Amino acid sequence: MQPLQFPYKNYSSRLPIPSLGFAALLLISLATLTSSCTEQEKNSLLQFVSGLSQDAGLAKLWQVDTDCCNWEGITCNGNKTVIDVSLASRGLEGHISQSLGNLTGLQQVNLSYNLLSGGLALELVSSSSIIVLDVSFNQLNGDLHEFPSSIPGRPLQVLNISSNLFTGQFTSTTWKGMQNLIALNASNNSFTGHIPSHFCNISPSFSVLELSYNKLSGSIPPGLGNCSKLRVLKAGHNYLSGTLPEELFKATLLEHLSFSSNGLQGILDSTHIVKLGKMAILDLGENKFSGMIPDSIGQLTRLQELHLEYSSMSGELPSTLSNCTDLITLDLKCNNFSGELNKVGFSNFPNLKTLDLMWNNFSGTIPESIYSCRNLIALRLSSNKFHGQLSKGLSNLKSLSFLSLTNNSFSNITNALQILRSSKNLTTLLLGLNFMNETMPDNARIDGFENLRVLAITDCLLSGEIPFWISGLVNLEMLFLQGNRLTGPIPAWINTMEYLFYLDISNNSLTGEIPTTLMAMPMLTSEKTAAHLDPRVFYLPVYSGPSLQRRIPIAFPKALYLSGNKFTGVIPPEIGHLKALISLDISFNNLTGPIPSSICNLTNLEVLDLSNNNLTGEIPAVLENLYFLAVFNVSNNNLQGPIPTGRQFNTFPNSSFAGNPRMCGPGLNHHCTSVE
Ligand SMILES: *[C@@H]1O[C@H](CO)[C@@H](O)[C@H](O)[C@H]1NC(C)=O
Ligand SMILES: *[C@@H]1O[C@H](CO)[C@@H](O)[C@H](O)[C@H]1NC(C)=O
Ligand SMILES: *[C@@H]1O[C@H](CO)[C@@H](O)[C@H](O)[C@H]1NC(C)=O
Ligand SMILES: *[C@@H]1O[C@H](CO)[C@@H](O)[C@H](O)[C@H]1NC(C)=O
Ligand SMILES: *[C@@H]1O[C@H](CO)[C@@H](O)[C@H](O)[C@H]1NC(C)=O
Ligand SMILES: *[C@@H]1O[C@H](CO)[C@@H](O)[C@H](O)[C@H]1NC(C)=O
Ligand SMILES: *[C@@H]1O[C@H](CO)[C@@H](O)[C@H](O)[C@H]1NC(C)=O
Ligand SMILES: *[C@@H]1O[C@H](CO)[C@@H](O)[C@H](O)[C@H]1NC(C)=O
Ligand SMILES: *[C@@H]1O[C@H](CO)[C@@H](O)[C@H](O)[C@H]1NC(C)=O
Ligand SMILES: *[C@@H]1O[C@H](CO)[C@@H](O)[C@H](O)[C@H]1NC(C)=O
Ligand SMILES: *[C@@H]1O[C@H](CO)[C@@H](O)[C@H](O)[C@H]1NC(C)=O
Repeated sequence: MQPLQFPYKNYSSRLPIPSLGFAALLLISLATLTSSCTEQEKNSLLQFVSGLSQDAGLAKLWQVDTDCCNWEGITCNGNKTVIDVSLASRGLEGHISQSLGNLTGLQQVNLSYNLLSGGLALELVSSSSIIVLDVSFNQLNGDLHEFPSSIPGRPLQVLNISSNLFTGQFTSTTWKGMQNLIALNASNNSFTGHIPSHFCNISPSFSVLELSYNKLSGSIPPGLGNCSKLRVLKAGHNYLSGTLPEELFKATLLEHLSFSSNGLQGILDSTHIVKLGKMAILDLGENKFSGMIPDSIGQLTRLQELHLEYSSMSGELPSTLSNCTDLITLDLKCNNFSGELNKVGFSNFPNLKTLDLMWNNFSGTIPESIYSCRNLIALRLSSNKFHGQLSKGLSNLKSLSFLSLTNNSFSNITNALQILRSSKNLTTLLLGLNFMNETMPDNARIDGFENLRVLAITDCLLSGEIPFWISGLVNLEMLFLQGNRLTGPIPAWINTMEYLFYLDISNNSLTGEIPTTLMAMPMLTSEKTAAHLDPRVFYLPVYSGPSLQRRIPIAFPKALYLSGNKFTGVIPPEIGHLKALISLDISFNNLTGPIPSSICNLTNLEVLDLSNNNLTGEIPAVLENLYFLAVFNVSNNNLQGPIPTGRQFNTFPNSSFAGNPRMCGPGLNHHCTSVE
């Protein structure tokens, strides 16, 4: 926003103190003549407080026998006229009294971040003095078209009604008389109908229109093109349809244009785009745009953010993109872009922080020029057709915190890890579905990775063992090694990993017993030190699957996944120590012996899968105490006796118990006799 200049900003409630003592004396005596705000203003403020159901102590602070200019949150000008009511984040509840409209000098009202409800008093919006009205982040409701429309020349410049519960449509009468409106933020309400565009004809200085997170529908009105001063237009997360109208591109001062997450379609027209030469943030992601990124994008030389994710765009990235030297964010994930990246001169993007090309059709090797983006924090190339070995240049990316290469055809994992280990700021490293059939490097020369919190080397069919160097990743919180061909035992050092709370080693060929050291993992045995992922770890949200749940970033529970291996022996009774565990899957192994009743100590457990082993004995009745258990599977074992009844055991499907010929119960072929 341009700084808005208000005349009163030049005053303060105190008069300037002149250098001569005499003048000061004179002034003090003059000041006592008009030493206080008027009774009427005082009463208007008191009426406002009495309209609140929860005033958070304001009534006490506002002493009736004192000058209201000195009251908390109140500012007066030199004439002792109230000009500013600033009561944001005070926990105020109740209605906004229309009495504020009686304060004839009031210019700025800030009641944001309270719990105010009811409608927005017409007296405020149609006030003949208020310039800035901010009631955002409250629970105000009602319909704006009830505003009186005829009062001409309202001075209101800034209206922020965002994050409330307003409903209804914007009608042309709503805004009549608002010739001075500069900024309207109506985001995050429940407005319906079309995007209003009449401001542009009414208010010549209109420059900020924010309407995101509403229920607006219809197409983008061509009339917005008449907003010759429009700098910010945000209408993401609505139900808009149609194309970007040609007229919109007449608003050549636009710096921030966002229509993300709507149903818009069509192409980005080369001759249109080029008119928006001041554009800094262009966010058209999560729509149905198709076609290529036009060559003329290179003329948007101030572009900092380009978001086109989750659309139907295709073709190669234009080499002209190299001219957008201010780029900070390039998000093209989930499209059908293809070709090699070599044409784009990434060395022209010294400020680039995020490059997200996930789920496209790019091919070739990673261009060396990417390694000159010294400020790159997040690089995601997953699910493309890249190949080749990583280059030493990668270690130039000193800020790199998030790297995902998942699901490409990269090769030489030894090389990759030796290069990446020196990336001191790396917190998340996702390498799965690459390096097919290679060997897990086990040499001790892989050290470094001081800050790594998340490591995924999954579905690579790697041979070898769980390598010792992993024990040196002292900050590791999550380790994903499933879908390889790793052999040998679970290493005894596993319980030295102080922060590890998520371990998935399923679908390998690991052997031996489930070691008791695993039952002493610090994060799983204590609830107190619950892992809290540093927000930097997932600089980009991580998704669970390539397409199905693509918009739902996954949250990770404390979990142990050991299924699909060749573990033998019994389930150690010490398993009861893993009190913090939420998910435990030991299915598809060769475990024998009984289900230890100590499992009943895992009171946070939501998922317990012991299926497809050779477990014997009865299901301990104490498992009924696992109140949170939602998934339970003991099928295909050699268990016997009755299925416990009661509580959540009544909710599990029959299939949870199938394949245990000697087990009996209501859902099984074998009914329990009184002996059983
Ligand atoms: C505010 O003005 C309205 C009418 O304009 C009047 O009814 C009301 O009493 C006034 N309130 C105060 C506190 O002056
Ligand atoms: C109102 O107060 C909030 C909280 O202090 C602040 O973030 C916001 O910028 C203020 N609004 C205006 C228009 O200055
Ligand atoms: C409300 O919007 C105005 C204008 O965009 C802005 O200056 C103010 O900071 C916003 N208020 C809050 C609480 O963000
Ligand atoms: C507009 O409102 C939305 C939702 O309350 C808020 O996120 C955004 O920061 C606001 N814009 C400005 C410029 O204050
Ligand atoms: C929308 O408003 C709600 C309630 O004030 C708030 O919790 C939420 O963060 C807002 N969402 C956005 C996107 O500003
Ligand atoms: C990638 O391109 C190939 C042919 O070039 C095409 O068959 C395939 O559908 C594309 N993939 C995606 C995800 O669009
Ligand atoms: C992706 O683009 C290729 C050509 O580049 C085309 O053959 C293919 O059909 C497209 N795939 C989809 C899913 O649109
Ligand atoms: C590495 O991360 C730390 C902590 O977030 C940060 O302060 C530092 O600037 C980063 N280093 C680089 C080279 O970006
Ligand atoms: C893999 O990388 C290592 C270490 O950089 C190197 O010694 C080896 O020759 C590479 N292997 C292949 C097949 O390129
Ligand atoms: C393990 O492999 C099975 C069968 O191929 C598959 O259904 C399952 O999703 C895999 N589990 C994991 C965690 O990869
Ligand atoms: C479980 O088996 C019982 C008895 O055979 C049957 O009545 C019930 O419908 C089955 N439940 C499910 C979910 O198949």
